[in-house]
Amino acid sequence: MVEVKELYKSFPGKKGKKTDVLKDINFKAEPGKIYGLLGPNGAGKTTTLRSVATLLKPDKGTITVNGFDTIKDAGKVRSIIGFLTSDMKLSGNLSPKELMYFFGELNHLKEDYIKKRITELSDYLGMNDFLDKPIQKLSTGMKQKASIAVSIIHDPEVIMFDEPTNGLDILASKIVVDFLYDYKKSGKTVILSTHIMSEAEKLCDSLGIIMDGTLVENDTLENLREKYSEERLENVFFKLASERGLLKNV
Ligand SMILES: Nc1ncnc2c1ncn2[C@@H]1O[C@H](COP(=O)(O)OP(=O)(O)OP(=O)(O)O)[C@@H](O)[C@H]1O
Ligand SMILES: [Mg+2]
Repeated sequence: MVEVKELYKSFPGKKGKKTDVLKDINFKAEPGKIYGLLGPNGAGKTTTLRSVATLLKPDKGTITVNGFDTIKDAGKVRSIIGFLTSDMKLSGNLSPKELMYFFGELNHLKEDYIKKRITELSDYLGMNDFLDKPIQKLSTGMKQKASIAVSIIHDPEVIMFDEPTNGLDILASKIVVDFLYDYKKSGKTVILSTHIMSEAEKLCDSLGIIMDGTLVENDTLENLREKYSEERLENVFFKLASERGLLKNV
């Protein structure tokens, strides 16, 4: 379970002036559920996820992961989360297998356990054909599978995937989508940020819609459909964007 309470974050802007990037973000992501973070470019999705992942310190507010505070218990939080960032670009000569070993050791996992996880994850994600090839020679989809495997090598209780199907073809996307569904079904907590409305509709049990650093909606898909009298999430999103002047003529 991830609980974000009254989260504020600012970054230094021009002439030393602070820019508020997150303003009073509140949400809960529960075990056995997928929480979706939707929002336009620059809305604050990645900043929110980086804060939960202990990589950014909130200016104000608290974040707990399975009851552990991201500031006071940062090490513990890191050991129970898997974070797939949108900008984690694996490159170089190491193979997916070597990278999984490396990250397994970073997570203090025993060798036998790492071996078991490599076999499990390679079978599950369909990586056996390229397990020993250098990352730099792999396709975008293969690299993404390797990134996923690396981010969950320690079988984390909570995973946060930031736009995980970005740049993937429909088949590679399906593997990621099916994986997220299976992961939540196994009782884990999943947070997904995406721009793809059909993906959010298919996967997310509840949704946070973030615009300009503010969580403008935080509800189940069903409730959002009813509230805005719109069947399609895309239209709910357009209405919210239009209300905030982010879209003209809608
Ligand atoms: N390290 C940083 N320093 C200064 N400003 C930052 C930093 N990181 C993010 N920002 C700013 O914070 C805002 C939110 O960025 P963020 O990356 O969280 O958006 P996002 O919703 O993930 O967008 P996208 O869909 O494009 O990935 C943007 O205006 C961005 O320029
Ligand atoms: Mg982002």
